[in-house]
Amino acid sequence: MRQPGIEPGSKPFSMVTEWEGFILPIYYWRFLIFNLTAFNKIFILYLTELNMNKKFYVTTPIYYPNDIPHIGHAYTTVAADIVSRLNKVIGNNVRFLTGTDEHGKKIEEAAEEKNKKPKDFVDELVPKFKDAWKKLNIEYDRFIRTTDKDHEKIVKEILTKVHDKGDIYLGEYEGYYCTGCEAYYTEKDLENDCCPIHKKKIDLLKEPSYFFRLSKYQKKLLELYKGGFIFPKFREKEIINRVKEDLRDFSISRTSFEWGIPLPFDRKHITYVWFDALLNYYTGSFDKTGKSYWPADVHFIGKDIIWFHCVYWPAILMSAGIKLPKKVFAHGWWTFDREKISKSRGKVINVNELIKVAGVDSARYFLFRATPFGQDGDFSEQALIDRHNNELADKLGNLISRVSSLIEKNGVQKRENTLLKKLKIKQIEKFMKNYEIDKALNEIFAFIDICNEYVQNKKPWESKDKKILYELADSIKAITVLLWPFMPETSEKISNQFGFKVGKESFKEINKPLKIKKIKKSEILFKKIQR
Ligand code: MSP
Repeated sequence: MRQPGIEPGSKPFSMVTEWEGFILPIYYWRFLIFNLTAFNKIFILYLTELNMNKKFYVTTPIYYPNDIPHIGHAYTTVAADIVSRLNKVIGNNVRFLTGTDEHGKKIEEAAEEKNKKPKDFVDELVPKFKDAWKKLNIEYDRFIRTTDKDHEKIVKEILTKVHDKGDIYLGEYEGYYCTGCEAYYTEKDLENDCCPIHKKKIDLLKEPSYFFRLSKYQKKLLELYKGGFIFPKFREKEIINRVKEDLRDFSISRTSFEWGIPLPFDRKHITYVWFDALLNYYTGSFDKTGKSYWPADVHFIGKDIIWFHCVYWPAILMSAGIKLPKKVFAHGWWTFDREKISKSRGKVINVNELIKVAGVDSARYFLFRATPFGQDGDFSEQALIDRHNNELADKLGNLISRVSSLIEKNGVQKRENTLLKKLKIKQIEKFMKNYEIDKALNEIFAFIDICNEYVQNKKPWESKDKKILYELADSIKAITVLLWPFMPETSEKISNQFGFKVGKESFKEINKPLKIKKIKKSEILFKKIQR
């Protein structure tokens, strides 16, 4: 495979714009020709707003493979999966990237502790991440590793470009460095001489180092933030203030250890792990045919790494002459039983444990129902079980089981679905556009409540009204299509049973009347958990 070049204006860049411009009109024509009923015109409007058929590129942070993945890693990855699947539902052309961040002192030290070479050490941990994502039903397009050859090549090419531009110069770094964060700190960042994140004593470094002229990009960065680059909005202010106040050039190379990519213009230095890691998003934007999905539509990250993504990253891209990502979304952190997640204190819940409590879909559901996306949240097994029992079993599970069993006995008869008008689709669309995933999920569940009330009020078990049962089955179709990004396994079970399509391009199914077929009473979707 040819690795496309990185020159602005060369093939990968022009390809992105041509492609976006080309595909849109084709799909518009297809819709206009085949779907010109009044009803469908309204539907086209929805799809246009949701930017149907556009390319959509979403990423997670690349995780340090120094241990197995836990709830914090799962959170970002499931969020990206939900957003990626939602884009598939509306027919967008999606690329979803995740992976591992394998260079740097932190990994080198972790490998040394186990008496292993860094590459052998990470080779053993990478399958644990892949396995966790498989179990969580994560549908990514590429799992990038920063030790991948194409990535190392891109890093060297960008470094050369930025160096040639005069944005990299040789100096000496003297200051604090936390290996846990792989980050430089100033005295005023410290809390009792400790790293503010890891609460551990911090290293004092003094070594020759190359610096990136970050200060040169202050004005441009401040301009960028005006366009709504940082999400959620409440995280913006702190970054803007820091960029205004104190934007120093940062060190982009280390000389005191070896595990990393050598600088192409001075092989005694290895590339700072964050410079290397951030570029994964660009390397991973190319698919197997060499077509690029760049720029990213959204980078999902945790709040602790917002500075790297909202300051270093756009400045590096500006220097390299590459388009900027559209948005960075920084979510909050999870605690476990109200304590900070910490392996040493046994306060950690890994992915296998998370799934074991109540199943994959209940775990995925819990993460986005329990706490507003963007804010911090607390995990406890009991809270997960309560939501599984009271919401998934009692609301969604109950609706499916009651309606399917009544249909098995009485059948259905087609009629216009007036119940569906109560589904706030516009609202859901707006939430998803702003990545307010939790609110979209709330809205879907509000409609599930409405459907359950409808059953209660209309009493179809007494009236045997086939038309009411049709409305309910057709509403279940809409619910299931919208739930697929959140709970793919459950949605696929329901769709098979009721006979409609979920997944890719299934959004249009919502407004197509359900085709009548034999429906049997469903298996129990969520078995209640007693503790
Ligand atoms: N390797 C860097 C990211 C480089 S991206 C170019 C890194 N890796 S990490 O493994 O330490 O963390 C990855 C992500 O997990 C971060 O977004 C971080 O916020 C997230 N989380 C780690 N612990 C978390 C919680 N307790 N809760 C939620 N997310 C948390 O940083």
